[in-house]
Amino acid sequence: QSADIGVTGLAVMGRNLARNFARHGHRVALHNRSTARTSALMAEFGHEGAFVPSETMAQFVASLARPRRIVIMVKAGEPTDAVIDELVPLLEEGDIVVDGGNAHFLDTRRREAALREHGLHFVGTGISGGEEGALEGPSIMPGGTAQAYRSLGPLLESIAAQVDGRPCCTHVGPDGAGHFVKMVHNGIEYADMQLIAEAYDLLRHGAGRQPAEIARTFRTWNEDRLNSYLIEITAEVLGHTDAATGRPFVDIVQDRAEQKGTGRWTVQTALELGVPVSGIAEAVFARSLSGSVTLREAARELPGPTETWLDSAAADRFAGDVEQALYASKIVAYAQGFNQIQAGSAEYGWQIAPGAMASIWRGGCIIRAKFLDRIEAAYQADAQLPTLLTDEYFRKALGEAQSAWRRVVSTAAQLGVPVPGFATALAYYDSLRAGRLPAALIQGQRDFFGAHTYRRIDRDGVFHTLWAGDRSEQER
Ligand code: 6PG
Repeated sequence: QSADIGVTGLAVMGRNLARNFARHGHRVALHNRSTARTSALMAEFGHEGAFVPSETMAQFVASLARPRRIVIMVKAGEPTDAVIDELVPLLEEGDIVVDGGNAHFLDTRRREAALREHGLHFVGTGISGGEEGALEGPSIMPGGTAQAYRSLGPLLESIAAQVDGRPCCTHVGPDGAGHFVKMVHNGIEYADMQLIAEAYDLLRHGAGRQPAEIARTFRTWNEDRLNSYLIEITAEVLGHTDAATGRPFVDIVQDRAEQKGTGRWTVQTALELGVPVSGIAEAVFARSLSGSVTLREAARELPGPTETWLDSAAADRFAGDVEQALYASKIVAYAQGFNQIQAGSAEYGWQIAPGAMASIWRGGCIIRAKFLDRIEAAYQADAQLPTLLTDEYFRKALGEAQSAWRRVVSTAAQLGVPVPGFATALAYYDSLRAGRLPAALIQGQRDFFGAHTYRRIDRDGVFHTLWAGDRSEQER
């Protein structure tokens, strides 16, 4: 009997995805470059469902029902191209190749176009949720043609996380749309993690609390509007004690955040699209800064403020303020990310429904959170919403949070606790609110030194002032 779906690349993500398919009653073809992984999967988990292991790519392809549905789970970049090159000659028209890795969406566009030439469907698919998600139900963001989704969608939906009876999987849009959305998901993930880390730092070095106490605070927050996977695991990490030293785990880990690149891609793409995702950018820069060892060593003795710690009554009040600031900053970070999805969708003609993205992020993925319901509702109410900040619910939340948010950012500045995420979110909020921005002055400067011209508020046209001459104005 032929297999319903195949998985090639059986490292932990591929293995867990294959097991997930099998556990949902699908017959799963298995392949890995070295057969050891395939045998290991069969030995350990073969009893979980119907697996069809193969030693060679040709056998693997032959074991699949047509149109073939093949999921590639190898490292992004060259390894993915190598597998595609090996697969393509073995496939037939109408077959569907799925890339479940964290590919760059431009690579996905290139691969989709190339496979289309061969009459094949290429489905670049974002998969979020880590190892556990892959096994228990990830959030799945497939791109590609609607035709490919008709064949593949039901299988993917069956293994995805489910929230309120709805699968966390939907057809995102053509070619690179799925990987684009996964990229922005990761950018938002970076921003969210940075904001949570800043909240911790403020409670630790502003309010003077210990990690175990802060873990309890996060647990309380997790019961309310901040409820999310990232807050939940933060409490776990902060509550953990290092067995070897008996010290809080967070104190024995080197404070240099690493990154594999998807956050950086998000910012690079945003720069090209001209979308101000300052929260994501600050989060990426904060990771880079943390890893700039020489720079940090050199700057260690720079003078800081004399104020330290808040007294205990002030510290309690401050903790409440930090919750508000975190919520408000998080709204801004997500609003920016959703704007990037809209901009990418417009640029590439993908027609992505932002509300549907909020919906499939409600479960399975790293940024799953209660407040995504609110984002989905906001786009349901108005699919063309220019920014989530002006949605009625978020506008009210921001309005209620803003005094606390301002107190937190100013207290942080006074105490010398760095809060790039909180501060940039507030600056974004105030910039959008501003009736007039000093950008007018920048236009003046540009016109002064480079005759770059400006537009007037009262008349159409492009103008230049003769700064070096009699300062009369010319229309260009
Ligand atoms: C997910 C994650 C995952 C990502 C890791 C590591 O959605 O499951 O986003 O895809 O690779 O979070 O990312 P960094 O190493 O860049 O932090």
